[in-house]
Amino acid sequence: MSERSERADEVTVRRREDGSVELRVNGVFVMDDVETSSERLLARAVVDLGASEVLVGGLGLGFTARELLSAPSVQRVVVAELHGEIVAWMRDGTLPGADLLTDPRLQVVVGDVRDVVAAQPAASLDAIVLDVDNGPDFLVHDQNAAVYEPGFADVCASRLRAGGHLSIWSMADSADVRALLDDRFEEVTATSVPVDLQGRDETYWVLTGSRPRLAG
Ligand SMILES: C[S@@+](CC[C@H](N)C(=O)[O-])C[C@H]1O[C@@H](n2cnc3c(N)ncnc32)[C@H](O)[C@@H]1O
Repeated sequence: MSERSERADEVTVRRREDGSVELRVNGVFVMDDVETSSERLLARAVVDLGASEVLVGGLGLGFTARELLSAPSVQRVVVAELHGEIVAWMRDGTLPGADLLTDPRLQVVVGDVRDVVAAQPAASLDAIVLDVDNGPDFLVHDQNAAVYEPGFADVCASRLRAGGHLSIWSMADSADVRALLDDRFEEVTATSVPVDLQGRDETYWVLTGSRPRLAG
């Protein structure tokens, strides 16, 4: 695994008084298990497009992976998770969701999503869904800027089957993400997801494009 996956981020889990669980990295809120509609929509977007073999960037609290695996049509899910402790905590019950890890269709790989995608055979996936950071404008990890850059989008395109989908979670309707998808994918859509984040109204986004079927 490359050097970039060996960063010493501090990942913390907090159980709130109401029983909900919150994940933070280097003190920055990443997500909780109260408002998960956009994480689930990310999965649903590609299931509804017919995806059966899917790679997910970011295990987090597992809502995207669980939504994928709730679809009988989904045959294989590979999850790339940078922080091994998140996987270990889910396995030992520190985080909820241990049952998810026993699904025989699921493979969890600890590593940077860029390495994990690059390691997949060409044209082997129906979809890649990315929820590793907040989008290019609100990064938790500076190094994740590369996830939203053309080089990685090209790698993703090459690992997708013709007609396969790249779907990206973003905190904002990012012009850069739209341009990234518009340049190399077709049928690009941006879906807004209104959410109530601890009493505050926010809108998150899921941006999706499909690899052209006639691509050379
Ligand atoms: C917002 S959470 C994902 C939430 C997930 N969609 C869910 O449903 O719970 C982002 C996750 O991506 C992981 N992550 C951050 N950067 C990464 C990278 N470059 N490669 C793989 N995982 C990464 C974080 O450790 C965190 O677990």
